Amino acid sequence: MNAPLTIRDLRVTFDGFTAVDGVDLDIRPGDLRFLIGPNGAGKTTLVDAVTGLAPATGSVRFGDHELLGRPVHRVARLGIGRTFQTATVFEQLTVLQNLDIAAGAGRPVRTLLRQRRNIPDEVAAALETTGLTAHRDRPAGELAHGQKQWLEIGMLLVQNVRLLLLDEPVAGMSHAEREATGALLRRIAADRTVVVIEHDMDFLRAVARSVTVLHAGRVLSEGTVAEVRADPRVQEVYLGEPVVTAPAGSEA
Ligand SMILES: Nc1ncnc2c1ncn2[C@@H]1O[C@H](COP(=O)(O)OP(=O)(O)O)[C@@H](O)[C@H]1O
Ligand SMILES: [Mg+2]
Repeated sequence: MNAPLTIRDLRVTFDGFTAVDGVDLDIRPGDLRFLIGPNGAGKTTLVDAVTGLAPATGSVRFGDHELLGRPVHRVARLGIGRTFQTATVFEQLTVLQNLDIAAGAGRPVRTLLRQRRNIPDEVAAALETTGLTAHRDRPAGELAHGQKQWLEIGMLLVQNVRLLLLDEPVAGMSHAEREATGALLRRIAADRTVVVIEHDMDFLRAVARSVTVLHAGRVLSEGTVAEVRADPRVQEVYLGEPVVTAPAGSEA
């Protein structure tokens, strides 16, 4: 199901501290939305609230479904998946086994771990999309940092996730890995909705279709990359630094 995500007056409070403070957000199907903001702005907590990991008030609707109050697995069943900043793959198992387990949640582990002659279509497609086909028989623990993040994204793809929420997917990646991830996110967003939490402004400029800036639990600014970049309030929370770095060589 491709459906709009509609967030109204979202609030998350930890022991009297309000981490998300009345956020409204509309993300249309097919968007590639970047969620940026200084550390502590509430970005991860917002994703936690959407995916059922943090108790929240207000409303989060995916199409006709209210998400708040649903346990994590019932949010996932609607086709909503997220990654964490630290990749959570099974390091001892191969790439293929990781994807198989994600695809076959519910199948007996014995049948999942058996050497397979036939690779299910959705697993083959995820291997292709993430560029991991040549690595499918390697233990996930041997993969480069970037490849582990791609595997984790692949594990969402085999579950036919329609809305992906990715928490700092390019943190710690090399330049080449970032470029490959940007291309991957654009491929994925062709028929899904993708929300990316990110700090890297060059990555944002290259990949984002739309941007929401959070600050102190609230939406500070929203629009295209150019609109957000031109917003003086955004410049201010980034301590006077340009939100999007100037092209190389243009600085004095
Ligand atoms: N489980 C928690 N208990 C108490 N405070 C928390 C918890 N999770 C996050 N916070 C606080 O909420 C604020 C927002 O955190 P977070 O959503 O992780 O920010 P971001 O991802 O934008 O850096 C921070 O001040 C953080 O310390
Ligand atoms: Mg965070």
